[in-house]
Amino acid sequence: MPDKRKILITSALPYANGSIHLGHLVEYIQTDIWSRFQKMRGHECYYVCADDAHGTPIMLRARLEGIEPETLIARIWQEHTADFADFHIDFDHYHSTHSPENEQLARAIYVKNRDAGHITQKTILQAYDPEAGMFLPDRFIKGACPKCGAEDQYGDNCEVCGATYSPTELKHPVSAVSGTKPVEKASEHLFFQLADFEQILKDWHLAGHVQTEVANKLGEWFEAGLADWDISRDAPYFGFPIPDTEDKYFYVWLDAPIGYMASFRHFCDQHSIDFDTFWQADSETELYHFIGKDIIYFHALFWPAMLHGAGYRKPSGVFAHGFLTVDGAKMSKSRGTFIKARTYLEHLNPEYLRYYFAAKLSRRVDDIDLNLEDFVQRVNADLVGKVVNIASRCAGFIKKRFANQLSETCVEPALYAEFVQAGEQIADYYEQREYGRAVRDIMKLADRANQYIDEKAPWVIAKQTGEEQALQDICSMGINLFRVLIGYLKPILPSMANQAEIFLNVEPMTWHSQTEPLIAHRLNPFKPLMKRVDMDNVQNMVEASKTDLAAQTQGTEMADTTLSQDPIADVIDYEAFAQIDLRIVRIVKAESIKEADKLLRLTLDLGGENRQVFAGIKSAYQPQELAGRLTVMVANLAPRKMRFGLSEGMVLAAGPGGKDLFLLSPDSGAQPGMRIK
Ligand code: 2FM
Ligand code: ZN
Repeated sequence: MPDKRKILITSALPYANGSIHLGHLVEYIQTDIWSRFQKMRGHECYYVCADDAHGTPIMLRARLEGIEPETLIARIWQEHTADFADFHIDFDHYHSTHSPENEQLARAIYVKNRDAGHITQKTILQAYDPEAGMFLPDRFIKGACPKCGAEDQYGDNCEVCGATYSPTELKHPVSAVSGTKPVEKASEHLFFQLADFEQILKDWHLAGHVQTEVANKLGEWFEAGLADWDISRDAPYFGFPIPDTEDKYFYVWLDAPIGYMASFRHFCDQHSIDFDTFWQADSETELYHFIGKDIIYFHALFWPAMLHGAGYRKPSGVFAHGFLTVDGAKMSKSRGTFIKARTYLEHLNPEYLRYYFAAKLSRRVDDIDLNLEDFVQRVNADLVGKVVNIASRCAGFIKKRFANQLSETCVEPALYAEFVQAGEQIADYYEQREYGRAVRDIMKLADRANQYIDEKAPWVIAKQTGEEQALQDICSMGINLFRVLIGYLKPILPSMANQAEIFLNVEPMTWHSQTEPLIAHRLNPFKPLMKRVDMDNVQNMVEASKTDLAAQTQGTEMADTTLSQDPIADVIDYEAFAQIDLRIVRIVKAESIKEADKLLRLTLDLGGENRQVFAGIKSAYQPQELAGRLTVMVANLAPRKMRFGLSEGMVLAAGPGGKDLFLLSPDSGAQPGMRIK
């Protein structure tokens, strides 16, 4: 390998219709650490990503909100980039798949594959919603599981018994878009002939570009035979039109990975970097994709095949990781362990999580667990108790007794050299994505530094007269050892490392800038670098995650990735209806909630009794126009604790959403408190 490598790194593109959560962050943190490490080693390295902006769920979510898909994806782009920045995910560029660069590249890659004979056309039968006038992806058909009979299951798998099936097997299927029964309809689709690339893909896998576990899985897929891949979708669809077709669009997964190229293309154009050097067929640069284990098929089969078919290089490595569990279980909205990036940030320092994930990450595809008690204990013990402690034990003496000036000699050169030498093994662990091992080695060094300070006991020497030099030497040694450790931790803890650089009064550290100790060097005043994690904050975050869910189920926010529009039951009996306490109410006060996009806080008068209700109607009403008007509420809905307070019922409104939302009004003469019968 050349001394100075050219490396392009990507993380999978998050969909532009949901928030970033801790499950996503495993990957972005893993990738960011690797990218920062490569940059610290002096390589020419770029880390790009983008929002994955196309497809049916995004189109329908925008429709439900009463906005254009472009408006939705622009808003989510802002949200995602803010979340990433606050977690210190340092992309060189963050783009969108709905971009001119991506359209141009997707068309070109498709046309090259088509002209080389790798695209075929077939007529297929698909579920169609005649009322909504659209074909339905499997996730948008609901019904009873054909195996266990569980109601309300998606068209591809049952969440109750785990069975997988095709939507045509569902019992009593209904469209999740309109609630009506889908019909079968024929349509012409375009297919990518994956089997044309079988040998190329096998050779590529054998050359070691994927992890062993992935290679084994691919072996099974080859065994089963590589099927043609359906790359077209009919209108209406939010995506790019396919050249030389009418009203056909590229399936979102066709242009999603091309988004890696498009993001880099945009970056290259802005920074005068040669795009082709990185993507041409015989490129000597390195290209790595970090992905979750659920999207291996796309990245280890379709993607290299498409690239090859269009005359581009194939990836140097596809690095798959496992899923995140919290306290040993799948992330759960009701338990409050489905934690959004923003909710975490409202309660905790992002570097706690970066460190904890790093300590658990390896090169394998295993799932990783965020055990909340272990998280608190580990961050406090390692970062606060070991690493920061080294500096805080020494910095006070250096400040008070030596005007922040370090000694003119390094008293333990062998110990310092030991710390520097350990760097090659640690670097090797980072390179191999064995961050857990790197962290273990760094913590061993931290123990060794603390042991040195314990043995020398500067606090004892400080009380002895005539030992000034010894005191300065020991504390300077401690600070120098701390500096080496911070350099090793910098890919994981970039913000703490920046603060440490200010304290140490040094230039931004690279991997090799700590080979010599700081001698006769003036420090800046020491400020605590990291606070202990408080379990109360963790618990508050979990509670807030439960209330996030309450906001969603009250119709004030959509579900994360799929359209939350459950089909309504055909009939209910009279008893069920009679249980609903519908009342006329007067809106006494309506207030906007700054932190909530969609919510208004309403004070409702039920004829003597006042209630507070949070209603997702901000997009349709100004608060001042509501005060005094009568409307209808469900008065016996169980109260829900929300982030902003208790919601004690629900007001009723009709319409698709956004501006088109209409509160119900009674005829004149109705009085607050009247029951609706
Ligand atoms: O699974 C997902 O969330 C996809 N949006 C990932 C796309 S990665 C790449 F291929 F674009
Ligand atoms: Zn089932």
